[in-house]
Amino acid sequence: MSEAPHGAPIKTPGQLVVAVIAGFAVPIVIIILLAIYVDNSTRTGAGTDSLSEAQVVARIKPLAQVEIRDANAPRVYKSGEEVYKAVCSACHASGAAGAPKFTNTADWAPRISQGFDTLLHAALAGKGAMPPRGGTGPDDYSDFEIARAVVYMANNSGASFPEPAQPAAGAAASGAAAALGAAAAAPSAGASDAAATQAAAAMAAMASVPQAAAPAAGGTQSADASQAGKALYQQVCQACHAAGVLNAPKFGDKEAWAPRLKEPMDTVYNYALHGKGAMPPKGGSTAPDADVKAAVDYMVSAVK
Ligand code: HEC
Ligand code: HEC
Repeated sequence: MSEAPHGAPIKTPGQLVVAVIAGFAVPIVIIILLAIYVDNSTRTGAGTDSLSEAQVVARIKPLAQVEIRDANAPRVYKSGEEVYKAVCSACHASGAAGAPKFTNTADWAPRISQGFDTLLHAALAGKGAMPPRGGTGPDDYSDFEIARAVVYMANNSGASFPEPAQPAAGAAASGAAAALGAAAAAPSAGASDAAATQAAAAMAAMASVPQAAAPAAGGTQSADASQAGKALYQQVCQACHAAGVLNAPKFGDKEAWAPRLKEPMDTVYNYALHGKGAMPPKGGSTAPDADVKAAVDYMVSAVK
C-alpha cells in the first residue's frame, strides 16, 4: 500500500506539470481581467467616459421644447425632396392606404392630368385617405413647401411641373398685421404668394381674436341677434371667410357653401362652435355660442 503522505493531490508528473502551468496562468488571467476592468473606456453606460458630451445633452434635455422663431428672420424653406422624405414618403413611398406611389407613372398619370392646382389643393386640403398637408400643420410646412413636395413627387413620377414661385421675402418678413392687411386688400394676388400671406394672415387673425371678441361678448349680445352675428363676423370670421383663407368657404360664395348647407343647420352650427379641419372652434374667439350661431346665420343668409 503506497501511501500518499497528507493526501497530496499531485500524484503523477503530469499533474505536476498542469499544476505549475496553472500556477502561472491563473494570476496572469486575473491581471489581464483587472487591467481591462480598470481601463473602462470600452465599457458603455452612465458614469463612464464613453458618454460623449452630446449624448449627455441628449439624455438630460427637457421633454418638451419650444422653438422660438424670429418672425422677421428670412425663412429658410425646405426643398420638395426634404418635405417628401420627412412627411409624404410615409405613405407615398410604399403606396400605403392607396396613395399614388412615388415614381410609379401609372399611378400618377391620371392625377397629373388634373393639373398642378388640383393636386396642390388635394395635398393642402386632403382627399380621401390623404390627410390635409400629409398630416402636418401650416406651422410645420408652409403652403409653398407643400407645393414643392407635390412638384417633387409629380416630377419624379412623370410630370414636368415648374418649381413653384417662392413667396416674396417681404411678404414673409413683414409684420403679421401688415400681412393681414395685404390679404384682406388683395385676396386675388398670385396664387402661391397669396396662400403664404393668407396663412400668415389667418395666424395673425387668430392671435388677435380673443381681445377683439371680448367687447362683442358684452352688451350687444342678445339685444339684436343679427347685429351680433354681423359684428362677430366682421371681428372674427371674416379674417378667413372674406378671402377664403385656408380654403374657408368664402362669404357670399354660393358654390362654396351649397355642399355644406346640405347638412342640417345644427351640424353646421356645431362645426362653427367646435371647429372642423382648419376652422378653429368659434373661429378662435371666446364669443358666446349664441353669437357664433348668429354669425353663421349671417354668413348663410349671404348665400341664400
Ligand atoms: C397618411 C398617408 C399619406 C401621407 C402622409 C401623404 N399622403 Fe398624399 N395621398 C395619400 C392617399 C391615400 C392618396 C390618394 C387619395 C385619393 O385619391 O383618394 C394621396 C394622394 C395625393 C396626391 C394626389 C391627389 C389627387 O388629386 O389625385 C397628392 C398630390 C399628394 N397625395 C401629395 C402629398 C404630399 C405633398 C404629402 C406630404 C406633404 C402627402 N401627400 C402625404 C396618402 C398620404
Ligand atoms: C382661421 C380661419 C377661420 C376663422 C377665423 C373662421 N373660420 Fe370658419 N372655416 C374655416 C375653414 C378653413 C373652414 C372649412 C373647414 C373644412 O371644411 O374643413 C371653415 C368652415 C366654416 C363653416 C362651414 C362648416 C361646414 O362645413 O358646414 C362655418 C359655418 C364656419 N366656418 C363658421 C365660422 C364662423 C361663424 C366664424 C367666426 C366666429 C369662423 N367660421 C371663423 C376657417 C375659419
